[in-house]
Amino acid sequence: MTKENKKEGDLMDKIVSLAKRRGFVFPSSEIYGGLANAWDFGPLGVELKNNIKKLWWEFFVQKRDDMYGLDAALLMNPKTWVASGHLRGFSDALVECKKCHERYRADILEKDKKENYICPSCGGIEFTEPKQFNLMLKTFLGPAEDEAHIVYFRPETAQAMFVDFKQILDTMSPKLPFGIAQVGKAFRNEITPGNFVFRTREFEQMEIEYFIKPNEWEDRFEYWLSQMKEWMKLVGLDESKISYLEVPEHERAHYSKRTIDIEFEFPFGKKELYGLAYRGDFDLKSHQEASGQNLEYFDEKASEKFLPHVIEPSLGVERTLLALLISAYREEKTEKETRVYLDFDIKLAPYKAAIFPLMANKPELVKKAQDLFHGIKKSGVYPIAFDDGGNVGKRYRRQDEIGTPYCFTVDFQTLEDDTVTVRDRNTMNQERIEVERVPEFLLNKLK
Ligand code: GAP
Repeated sequence: MTKENKKEGDLMDKIVSLAKRRGFVFPSSEIYGGLANAWDFGPLGVELKNNIKKLWWEFFVQKRDDMYGLDAALLMNPKTWVASGHLRGFSDALVECKKCHERYRADILEKDKKENYICPSCGGIEFTEPKQFNLMLKTFLGPAEDEAHIVYFRPETAQAMFVDFKQILDTMSPKLPFGIAQVGKAFRNEITPGNFVFRTREFEQMEIEYFIKPNEWEDRFEYWLSQMKEWMKLVGLDESKISYLEVPEHERAHYSKRTIDIEFEFPFGKKELYGLAYRGDFDLKSHQEASGQNLEYFDEKASEKFLPHVIEPSLGVERTLLALLISAYREEKTEKETRVYLDFDIKLAPYKAAIFPLMANKPELVKKAQDLFHGIKKSGVYPIAFDDGGNVGKRYRRQDEIGTPYCFTVDFQTLEDDTVTVRDRNTMNQERIEVERVPEFLLNKLK
């Protein structure tokens, strides 16, 4: 292991440990020994996740005037997956090591000079022939567990946006170009889940299907790439860790005519963070043929009907969260210790501020701090934390570790002149501010 690799491995361990210790991400059903590669988002994790989704929705849907939101059912008519090609083509090649019987996705295994796969767990080089393994999870609807009652957990949110395309046309009368956007769960029976929340079998996607005139696809593709770049800046991802991969034809999904994978330098290697794909009219055409319904768009100006083409920016929520934790993690040597803080933008920070009474055993300080705490919430700034445990130094460290940008301390001077200290997470600088100005101070930061 090189020094650099070890450092990166250490970083991942530190992030996983911080995430668990501070209530961001817990192993799922841990009291029963857990469920491999399933994770629960704790009180701070759910705030962070919701903040990511809210920011995405604002940026890609609400602030624009060409977007239509959707929240479709997760279980869809199984004919959807026949038409979309997922039942036939959504599979990975699976191989099994003949020595230790571990199973792997063939495409991620390293090969030796003789082109033999090498088993990462035992070093064996004898494998079974690759077998196609469909990644869709299935279950039965209703009491009968037979073929006729099989339904699939959607492997992408995208299909509902094609299947509901006609409903959006009929109800909203949108004009091209326009998009349909959705945030929601997707499920894949991944062969090799792992790397914390990077690859799981249950995850969330934030997807847009952007419908365009066919001859405009190249410009629109570039435009959406630029929007994704803006998004990554907005959310605070480390730009130096981001790169762009033009996916070659033989590696693209069955529906795609061009794909760019946006990759992020995770501590475990450079991996796909997001995808941008030109899906042509593959999906609308397939659903039109399979359903017998006309899904064409009528262009009034040109007086012609046609199937729009699609550009698809597809983003994973958990991968954003992980990339954000990695981007925001800071260690800083102070005289006595190493200070750890998460450099989140206030919009993403789970707590926008924390309020402390200098001493927990002085009722007049506690009362004043509680009044400030409730006053801030009433002004519309939340969630915020109230902390009176341990000394103030420890409280600062706790808030630093979870990325709280500002801490306000009620001290003895507050009782005299109605001012509190405000301490900045990144600089650790403190200044005094009038109590009545605190809500306004935070509201300005949140703008
Ligand atoms: N509709 C297109 C689509 O689903 P994808 O590249 O398979 O394309 C899009 O998935 C995004 O969803 C990925 O870039 C990633 O952010 C996220 N994603 C995919 N599989 C995932 C998994 N097993 N665990 C966590 N996130 C995943």
